[in-house]
Amino acid sequence: MTPDVKAFFDTATNTVSYVVKDPEGQSCAIIDSVLDFDYAAGETRTQSADEVIAYVRDNDLRVDWILETHVHADHLSAAPYIQEQIGGKIGIGTQITVVQDTFGKVFNEGTEFQRDGSQFDKLFSDGDTLMIGQLRCDVMHTPGHTPACLTYVIGDCAFVGDTLFMPDFGTARCDFPGGSSEMLYESIQRILTLPDATRIFVGHDYKAPGRDEFAWETSVAEEKARNVHVGGAASKEAFIEMRDARDATLKKPALIIPSLQVNMRAGQMPEPDDQGDVFLKVPLNKI
Ligand SMILES: [Fe+2]
Repeated sequence: MTPDVKAFFDTATNTVSYVVKDPEGQSCAIIDSVLDFDYAAGETRTQSADEVIAYVRDNDLRVDWILETHVHADHLSAAPYIQEQIGGKIGIGTQITVVQDTFGKVFNEGTEFQRDGSQFDKLFSDGDTLMIGQLRCDVMHTPGHTPACLTYVIGDCAFVGDTLFMPDFGTARCDFPGGSSEMLYESIQRILTLPDATRIFVGHDYKAPGRDEFAWETSVAEEKARNVHVGGAASKEAFIEMRDARDATLKKPALIIPSLQVNMRAGQMPEPDDQGDVFLKVPLNKI
C-alpha cells in the first residue's frame, strides 16, 4: 500500500516532520514534530506545529499516532501540544529507558523523573506493528545514532529518522552517549534489505555540495547505489573509521541542552516551581 505523505520542513533546525495518511481512510500518523524554540530568549512558539495541525484539520484527518523516531538532540518535540489539540497516541522505542537513564543523571533529575518510558503512551520494540487506520506500520529498531532509534516502515515507505540522510549527504553522527558507528552501519544494512523501490524519508536535510534545494525523499535503490558513506562497495571498517573521524570534528547541536531535557519527557516541560514558572537547566561541562 502507498500511503499519502506530506512533509513539513523546519528551516531553523533542518528537521522534516511528516503526516502519513492511510490512502483508504482519514487516519494518519505524525512523525517527528517540532516545537519552535528561541534559545536566546528562552521562548517556545508553535508556528511549525500549528502548520501540521492546520493541515490535519483542513483535510479532516484523524490522528492515530504521534511518533518519534528517537530522542532528538537538535529540536524540541511538539508531541504533547499536538496531542492536546488534535489527539493521537505518542510512541517511541523501548530503549528510551536507556536514554532517560543517561540524561536523567546528566541533568541530575532526581527520583521524580521516571526512567521507565511512562511519559509516552506506547513503547515499540523491533518487530512490533501498529495500525494507521487500515495501513500497517512495521517497527524496526535501528540504533547507532542513539540507542533508541526506530525506523517506521509504512506501506512502501520507510521513515528512517537519523540513520541515513540523502545519498549525497550520507549518514547521521554516532557520538552521542550510547551511539555507535558500528551499530549504525548494521542498522543501515538492515534498512537496505527492504525492497529497492521502498521510498525513504529522512529526518533531516542540510543540502549538500552541488545541491541548492532541500530534499528528503529518496529510495533504497538510490541509497545503495549512491550514498556517499555506505553506498556502492563501502566496507564496514571504512565506514566506522570515516564516521568516528568525522564525528570528532562536529560541534554539538545548538539546541542539544534544551532538546534532551524536553524530549526525554516525551516533549513535556519539567515540572513548574511553586510560582508556576518553568526552568531548563544548563549542566556545565557535562555534555
Ligand atoms: Fe537526531
